[in-house]
Amino acid sequence: MSDIERQILLWCGVFVDPLDEDSQFTHRQWSSHELWFHERSRRYGREAGFGGTFWARGEFPAPPLRPPGSDEVAIYFDAVDSDLIDAQSISLNRALEDRRSIRRHNDEKPLELSQLGEFLYRTARVRLVQEVDGVEYGSKPYPSGGSVYEIEVYLLVRHVQDLAPGLWRYDPTEHGLVCLKKGLEDANISALLREATHSSTINTSPQVTILMAPRFGRILWKYEQMGYAVILKHVGVLMQTMYLVATDMGLAACAIGSGDSDLFSRATGLDPLDCTTVGEFILGTPHPEERFQERPV
Ligand SMILES: Cc1cc2nc3c(=O)[nH]c(=O)nc-3n(C[C@H](O)[C@H](O)[C@H](O)COP(=O)(O)O)c2cc1C
Repeated sequence: MSDIERQILLWCGVFVDPLDEDSQFTHRQWSSHELWFHERSRRYGREAGFGGTFWARGEFPAPPLRPPGSDEVAIYFDAVDSDLIDAQSISLNRALEDRRSIRRHNDEKPLELSQLGEFLYRTARVRLVQEVDGVEYGSKPYPSGGSVYEIEVYLLVRHVQDLAPGLWRYDPTEHGLVCLKKGLEDANISALLREATHSSTINTSPQVTILMAPRFGRILWKYEQMGYAVILKHVGVLMQTMYLVATDMGLAACAIGSGDSDLFSRATGLDPLDCTTVGEFILGTPHPEERFQERPV
């Protein structure tokens, strides 16, 4: 290989100069799929076929805001009294200052069904549905690119008062729960719980593991090349909304950084190309020793 060919390959990042420590790290920190994803999802305005192009319009029907099976609600939560919440809420500044990740839950006084209902109402319910040009758009307490709201909230319930353990889906339109599987005996469900327990680093099982599962078609029907990146941003805004509401309610909340989508697919039977998990979050009542613990530096 000529020197110029070697220089070109170095410049393209195909080769890393083994003698150059700086470039070694800047190159080696990237796995190829992450670098490719980053580069391909940041081309707005630079090329055609990128962004909110509505490429599927006319070829495929727009996936509705509400997934199929929404009529199977088994538990309807009580209505939430917004005035009462207004009267009892701490300030936004207090919520931001007091927010921290709490991983250990108090199984002697587990989450109540009404608390779970209030939490879901304040973080994930549908506030409004609007149809524009044959496409349904929504409004929820957290923001969503293009008002698309593709994330479905599933709940892996281990210990909530008056709610059977198992896998449930929150219906944000009906403000209720759809039951997918009762009990935790199913091998995939128990593996999901083990995984959440392990991810929270303290090895006690969460009372509720929230599984964030986008219906990909809601986003990918409209966006080209950057849709998956938008979905991950939505996981972030939903996580922060959940952290702040949990803080306001005195609940223990912690984001989880990784999960196993295959387990979710096997537990639900859903097609992973259509809907599967991309984010996890754990919720419960705070263990008494956690509540007043000094903030770690
Ligand atoms: C996207 C994201 C992923 C996280 N993943 C985990 C995790 O897998 N396990 C865990 O115990 N904490 C996780 N956390 C919590 C962080 O460890 C925590 O936010 C950080 O230590 C700062 O502490 P604080 O939240 O108490 O302020 C995650 C937080 C975020 C935002």
